[in-house]
Amino acid sequence: MGKILVTGGAGFIGSHTCVELLDAGYEIVILDNFSNSKPESLNRIKKITGKDFKFYEADLLDLDKVNAVFDENPDIEAVIHFAGLKAVGESVRMPVEYYHNNITGTLMLIKAMREHNAKKIVFSSSATVYGLDNEVPYVETMPTHTSTNPYGYTKVMIEQILNDVYVSDNDWSVALLRYFNPIGAHKSGLIGEDPNGIPNNLFPYIAQVAVGKLPALGVFGNDYDTPDGTGVRDYIHVVDLAKGHLCAVKYVMENKGVEAINLGTGKGSSVLDVLHAFEKACGKELPYVIKPRRAGDIAWSYAKPDKAKKLLNWEAQYGIDEMCADGWNFAKNNPNGL
Ligand code: NAD
Ligand code: UFG
Repeated sequence: MGKILVTGGAGFIGSHTCVELLDAGYEIVILDNFSNSKPESLNRIKKITGKDFKFYEADLLDLDKVNAVFDENPDIEAVIHFAGLKAVGESVRMPVEYYHNNITGTLMLIKAMREHNAKKIVFSSSATVYGLDNEVPYVETMPTHTSTNPYGYTKVMIEQILNDVYVSDNDWSVALLRYFNPIGAHKSGLIGEDPNGIPNNLFPYIAQVAVGKLPALGVFGNDYDTPDGTGVRDYIHVVDLAKGHLCAVKYVMENKGVEAINLGTGKGSSVLDVLHAFEKACGKELPYVIKPRRAGDIAWSYAKPDKAKKLLNWEAQYGIDEMCADGWNFAKNNPNGL
């Protein structure tokens, strides 16, 4: 079995996926520039699994370094490509940086993979590619050519680029994994989501209210056409998501072509559903205030997860209560992050 290169493996989803890969007996190599993660997450991966791996502190934009990783590890057979910037609001303020990091970074990776004849890739795409015009539940066959922000467009464009790469050379195997909303943490409480500064996303924000670092959750709108008026999303336990990557790696090892695949649960939960589930997990009431809608938000987003079940034999196991229990376990053990 060849090695798996994991770009962005020190990050939130990457670190959980590395744990699952190591537990399943894969050899891995991690590349990260720590632009949005910390070296401590690598120690935690080792602690959980009791296994070691090679790590390269490198930027994907540096083609020489990326080539060197492949030169030094000629047995890399497939790549799981997490590395990218992901803050929607920041991407609106810094479009050039986002397009450069995410798209040029991916092009450098593809060049190095082509050069070294390692043509199997699992890419971190997002439900954001479904844009504003499709209706829930989102299905992989829907058109995906619009977004509301530069971050989303990087995902749309990278999906297109990987499609074109396959058209030019049918030796490639590409899985475009469209994640819905990953939350929660590993059961050990040793790894989890650890954003810099004030969190943009719902779950880490609630976690910081629960540990007393922030006074109250701002709920962005309670007048949507949803059961309680707050936005509905398809939250997925990050460990379920990580396991989906194992199935996708196996798939690209065995099949050529390009497949876009939703990784979600197929169930929607509202902002208040998540808040109340977290209150149950941490055993206290969490204050919130209703705020205006956030620009670019939609009322509903959830997956039709059937393709993942059919093609990868994967489906999510955990529900919202487990996501909150595990997320709270990480937050209370690491109130100041990693
Ligand atoms: P994260 O920020 O925790 O992890 C990304 C990692 O990539 C970080 O460790 C960062 O340091 C690294 N990185 C960024 N640019 C790099 C570069 N040029 N060279 C080397 N390393 C680089 O984010 P995450 O939540 O784990 O997300 C992983 C991937 O999944 C991203 O591509 C993200 O866009 C995508 N995604 C995430 C979500 C989500 O809600 N978390 C949803 C859909 C898609
Ligand atoms: N929300 C709040 N208060 C907050 C943060 C979020 O009420 O402080 C609400 C949002 O309005 C939304 C829900 O909580 O209804 C979830 O918001 P998140 O920011 O956690 O997640 P999004 O669904 O907006 O975004 C996620 C990823 C993006 C990706 C997008 C679409 O973070 O990377 O899904 O797939 F682009």
